[in-house]
Amino acid sequence: MQVLALSGSLRAASLNSLLLRVAARVAPDGVVVQVFTELSRLPLFNPDLEADLPAAVADLRDRILASDAVLMASPEYAHGVSGPMKNALDWMVGNDSFIDKPVAVLNASHRASIAHAALVETLVTMSARVVQQACVDVPLRGKTFTEAQLLADEIVVSGLRQALRALRAVQAPRGG
Ligand SMILES: Cc1cc2nc3c(=O)[nH]c(=O)nc-3n(C[C@H](O)[C@H](O)[C@H](O)COP(=O)(O)O)c2cc1C
Repeated sequence: MQVLALSGSLRAASLNSLLLRVAARVAPDGVVVQVFTELSRLPLFNPDLEADLPAAVADLRDRILASDAVLMASPEYAHGVSGPMKNALDWMVGNDSFIDKPVAVLNASHRASIAHAALVETLVTMSARVVQQACVDVPLRGKTFTEAQLLADEIVVSGLRQALRALRAVQAPRGG
């Protein structure tokens, strides 16, 4: 099973991106997580450009279509979904890449309480299959972590494995 992981943060030291890289390392049998790192290449959403889709947008669409499920982790900015994540989703509204796609949304912050629900609402509106058992809180208390620290954290690892197992249980056929 192929899982595409999308981080809503562009920071080099992003905790959300780190969490997704750790998810790739601890994925259960039969699950391969590919972390997508090119969200910053997407232009700002403009419906005028949809007739001739920018290459970076088409690439993301094709990767989502080719994946069995999508794993997301995104920071909350001023109680909203991060701009890069919302921008990516807006580009995907006009195609069928998220229709019936199993999606897990991780929440890496114990403080963030608004953006998570907004992100789920957007995904549901786009007809994604948000898998509740796979939407796991993995609060990272503290400012910085290394990959090794998270790999050694049983709560983090078990939360990530729970999310991926739940996705594996409901995977949809590729291609839509
Ligand atoms: C401009 C800005 C606004 C933020 N607003 C919120 C917020 O509303 N709620 C919250 O819990 N955290 C907020 N934060 C904290 C970030 O969500 C937090 O630092 C998160 O770890 C960033 O994700 P990253 O490490 O993946 O880049 C904000 C941070 C910034 C820079």
